[in-house]
Parts: sequence; C-alpha cells; structure tokens
Amino acid sequence: MKYVKFSDFLRVVSAAGLISASLTVQAQAVNVADAEALLLTNKCAKCHSVDKKKDGPAFKVTAAKYKGKADGEAKLFTHLTTAPTIEIDGVKEEHQKIKAKDDTAVKNLIKYILSR
Ligand code: HEC
Repeated sequence: MKYVKFSDFLRVVSAAGLISASLTVQAQAVNVADAEALLLTNKCAKCHSVDKKKDGPAFKVTAAKYKGKADGEAKLFTHLTTAPTIEIDGVKEEHQKIKAKDDTAVKNLIKYILSR
C-alpha cells in the first residue's frame, strides 16, 4: 500500500469540501424574479396564489406537501409539463401545461414554489 502525503490528503479533502459547498448553494438558489415572471406570463395566478386557496392549492400548501421528499421536484415537473387531469368544482379538465423557454426555467419555478 502506498502512503499518501499529508499535504495531498488535505488538498483532496478541501477540494471535496469546496465542491459540496458550491452544490449546496446551487441547490438553494432560486431566481425569484424569473419565477414570478413565468407565473405571470402563464397566468397561473388565475388559480394559484402563494398563501390563499383558489381553484388550485396555495403554493405554501404544495411546499408543505412535498417538504423533505426526494421526488418532490420530479413530481411537480411532471405535473407542470404533462397536463394531468385535475378536478375543479367536480368538473374534470387538463391542468395547464407550462410554457417556458427551457426545463431550467421550469425547475427554477418549482424551487420557488417549494421554498414558499
Ligand atoms: C384553471 C385553474 C388552474 C390553472 C390556470 C393552473 N392550475 Fe395549478 N392546479 C390547479 C388545480 C385544481 C390543482 C390541484 C390538482 C390536484 O390536486 O389534483 C393544481 C395543482 C397545482 C400544483 C400542485 C401539484 C401537486 O402535485 O400537488 C402546482 C405546483 C401547480 N398547480 C402549479 C401551477 C402553475 C405553475 C400554473 C401555471 C403554469 C398553474 N398551476 C395553472 C388549477 C390550476
């Protein structure tokens, strides 16, 4: 077995620390202005608000529902991009499919919703 120099060991450990620190920052960063602009252009506020129930649930309620669930982001991504069947006042319809420039914009909005 080869010996690793202590200075090399430190370099590896600190590099790993830096990488995980930057991943954490990336995972938390939400561009609020972009998220709210996307809600506006898609007219989501017709049925949703951050803290009041309209035809759809408040984003705070959705955030609480998925809090701590590893698949929360993926479920919401499917919800927003595949027009699942929903029910409003007993009438079935398709949920609005989001129009966004790319998946990154949709994911940013999902992070925004989950952090309400
Ligand atoms: C015509 C009303 C309406 C519009 C417009 C609408 N939604 Fe919804 N949305 C609903 C209803 C109703 C539900 C509840 C569906 C259910 O729980 O079965 C829902 C559910 C959701 C959920 C929670 C999904 C879950 O798994 O709990 C999110 C997030 C959401 N909508 C986001 C949006 C966004 C973002 C937009 C704009 C692109 C939007 N909605 C547009 C009615 C609407």
